[in-house]
Amino acid sequence: MARALIVFASRIGTTQKIAELIAEGVRSAGAEATVIPAATIKREAELEGYDAYVFGSATYHGDMMQPMKTFLFLAEKAHLEGKVGGAFGAYGWSGEASVRVFETMKNVFNMKMVSQPLRLKSATVGGGAEVARQYGRQIGEKLTQ
Ligand SMILES: Cc1cc2nc3c(=O)[nH]c(=O)nc-3n(C[C@H](O)[C@H](O)[C@H](O)COP(=O)(O)O)c2cc1C
Repeated sequence: MARALIVFASRIGTTQKIAELIAEGVRSAGAEATVIPAATIKREAELEGYDAYVFGSATYHGDMMQPMKTFLFLAEKAHLEGKVGGAFGAYGWSGEASVRVFETMKNVFNMKMVSQPLRLKSATVGGGAEVARQYGRQIGEKLTQ
C-alpha cells in the first residue's frame, strides 16, 4: 500500500490537528498515513519507505518553528527528489511558515509538490477541517490513482 509521512511542528496543537486531518484525507483515498512530530525525528533513515511527504509548521514571529528548521536540514540528506510533497501550517495573520516549508521542499529537495501550501487559521472553524481532509485526499489520490 502507498504510504505518506506527515511531519509537524506545533506549539499549542492547531498544526498538529491539521496534520491529523490531512492523515484522515490520505487514508480516505486508500493510502496509509503516519503522523510524527518534527522534534522526535533524529535520523534521515526514519524518512525512508514513504511515497509522499507532507511537512507543516505553525508561524511564530513570521517564521517556521525551530523543530521544523532542524528537521528540514535532516530531510535534505534523505533524497526526497521526485517524491510527492505538500506543506501546511496554522497561522494568525501572515502565515509564512507553510509557504517557506513548501518552497524548501520544491526548490531544495526537488519534490513533486501539489499546487500550493495549505494555510489555515483554524483546524475546525470555517470549514477548516474539510479543507485539510481534502488536501490529504488530493495527496493520497496521487499515490493511488
Ligand atoms: C508570540 C506569537 C507570535 C506569533 N506570530 C505570528 C506571526 O508572525 N504570523 C502569524 O500568522 N501568526 C502568528 N502567531 C499566531 C499562530 O501562528 C497561531 O496561533 C497558530 O494557530 C498557532 O499554531 P499551533 O497551535 O500549531 O502552535 C503568533 C502567535 C504567538 C503566540
